[in-house]
Amino acid sequence: MTAPYATDEHVMGNYGERALTMVRGEGVYLYDAGGRRYLDFTAGIAVCALGHAHPVVSNAIAAQAKTLIHCSNLYQNPWQNRLAARLAELSGLDKAFFCNSGAEANEAAIKLARRYAWAKGEEARTELVSLPGGFHGRTFGALSITGKPKYHEGFRPLVPGCATPEDFEGVLRAITERTAACFVEVVQGEGGVNPVPVEVLRAIEARCRETGALLVVDEVQTGVGRTGTFFAFEQAGLRPDIVTMAKGLAGGVPIGAVLARAEVAEALGPGSHGSTFGGNPLATATALAVVETVADAAFLAHVREVGAYLRDRLETLGTQVSGLGLMCGITVPDAKAFVQAAQEAGVLVTAVGDTRVRFVPPLVVDRVHVDELVERLLPVAAGA
Ligand SMILES: Cc1ncc(COP(=O)(O)O)c(C=O)c1O
Repeated sequence: MTAPYATDEHVMGNYGERALTMVRGEGVYLYDAGGRRYLDFTAGIAVCALGHAHPVVSNAIAAQAKTLIHCSNLYQNPWQNRLAARLAELSGLDKAFFCNSGAEANEAAIKLARRYAWAKGEEARTELVSLPGGFHGRTFGALSITGKPKYHEGFRPLVPGCATPEDFEGVLRAITERTAACFVEVVQGEGGVNPVPVEVLRAIEARCRETGALLVVDEVQTGVGRTGTFFAFEQAGLRPDIVTMAKGLAGGVPIGAVLARAEVAEALGPGSHGSTFGGNPLATATALAVVETVADAAFLAHVREVGAYLRDRLETLGTQVSGLGLMCGITVPDAKAFVQAAQEAGVLVTAVGDTRVRFVPPLVVDRVHVDELVERLLPVAAGA
């Protein structure tokens, strides 16, 4: 594309002002409309797991586009069936439901948890508990379990029966016999790249078991190898009842997924939920190609290795370096100013909160790219 539209005046303003127009990507680099190259440590907000224009993804899309893009869920399709089977194998859960985004996956998980309680005759078990600092999406249900008051502005009243206590102790107290499910992230991405202490996650799991609440692990950002294992819950030693996924699953083609134990999944019987696009051949064939690439032991070892190197090198750019695998964060005096200055220096990163900067590069990133990142950002950090 050589002549991009000059303005976004007909696009709704919810994303605020965006100075750059991106027209091309290759590996860990993005190119803007003026031909300038950027080292991309956003990966489309932790989506482009294999980077930009990776042949595995491009070829899967092209081949599928020539075969069958969509046929609806009136019919089975082999790619959806195969992806469900592969994700079941990788997660230890039994069944998958496919949708198109992380919020939709969490929305479906909320409905699944509610309906599971209802199907068991526990009609009073309607409440949902989530963690402070957590983020689960922008649809009404997902927003209601997201504890960020700023995102609630103008949308109250939210879905009733959702509690996001102010601390982890409060979360444990909030999980009762009335709780349908508790939603957790192993590393809170939007919350500032904060790993939740493993003891806290295990205590929540134990409390869920004690009360009969379901444990939902939101792997929308942490899943598909981002933290160095296929799922982050593996590293925390959790046994979730439900897992939600999206972002990296199809390398940039929209997809979401909910995985559940068979007994729980049964609650979504015929007609209880659905999605026109969910699990269509294009998205699931692409996801299969991505999953096969990422689930490889050597690929995951690469994520852990480069991730550890990145965290090590980030010490020179900020404080409170955190994260797991290739999902890292640092504290800087002014995250917005840092992101802007980084952009001017040819590096793309995201601000999560006032003082936190997130680094979620494509998982194919190498040490040389980390070195390039640090070299370009050292003057930025010095000026911050
Ligand atoms: C943990 C988590 N859950 C859910 C979502 C929402 O996903 P989506 O934007 O695809 O709806 C996000 C997005 O950042 C996320 O990080």
